[in-house]
Amino acid sequence: MKMNASSWHGLFIVLEGIDGCGKTTIGKMLFSFFQQHHLPVLLTAEPSQGKIGKIIRENLQDSSVHPAIDALLFAADRIDHGTNEILPALKKGNIVISDRYIDSSLIYQTTQGKNSQISMDWVKELNKFCLIPDRIYLLDIDANLSLARRKKQNSTLNEQMEKFEKLAFQQEIRNAFLKLAREDLTKNHRIVDASKQPEEILREILKDLKDICISKGLSWKENLSKAKKFLIKLDH
Ligand SMILES: Nc1ncnc2c1ncn2[C@@H]1O[C@H](COP(=O)(O)OP(=O)(O)OP(=O)(O)O)[C@@H](O)[C@H]1O
Ligand SMILES: [Mg+2]
Repeated sequence: MKMNASSWHGLFIVLEGIDGCGKTTIGKMLFSFFQQHHLPVLLTAEPSQGKIGKIIRENLQDSSVHPAIDALLFAADRIDHGTNEILPALKKGNIVISDRYIDSSLIYQTTQGKNSQISMDWVKELNKFCLIPDRIYLLDIDANLSLARRKKQNSTLNEQMEKFEKLAFQQEIRNAFLKLAREDLTKNHRIVDASKQPEEILREILKDLKDICISKGLSWKENLSKAKKFLIKLDH
């Protein structure tokens, strides 16, 4: 059973991108914005806080775990997360913001599993039971800049050698995210320049959301009057 935007009244938004691109920062800002405008909102992330998410977080520290196990666990966690947390909130008319989703799996599991022959098609197949977001924002940023942000945040991050390895990996991941967004057949992706100031990024995302809100207007009756308030504000 394929679940997509016509199955709910809320709005399912995903934030994606390389480490340090600003997913958590922008997620929190969007959350506060919607809260301030009295719109029901849920901010969530993957791996989820559920049972399978917990196993994944334990595995993240363990490099001996086969990448196929990660791919299977991430897909299982996503189905669990979607069924028990995201879909019930969407059905109640919430705006759900997820910090990472399917794209992260498609990219990290295939990059990490290069030598284990994990294909994008296989990971896509595993994720075919997951909810399809209304919008996926790729917070696109140069890997040097995101690394600088992360270093500022965590002064113990790295030494020369490791830094270059990390940088090359992040560049590869960035390109993979861009490729995925550009090839998206559902056209649900938007590429956002994440090197800008957070306020500017927020504004760009909200402007784009306005279009979806309008197109979803009829199926989003409960929140429409509240939503209109912030849509009007965006025009000023
Ligand atoms: N637009 C921005 N301009 C400048 N600094 C930013 C911006 N967005 C985030 N930052 C800073 O960059 C650092 C990383 O941001 P954040 O934690 O939001 O990234 P992330 O994508 O969630 O990273 P991770 O994938 O590691 O969880 C933080 O210190 C944050 O304050
Ligand atoms: Mg984060």
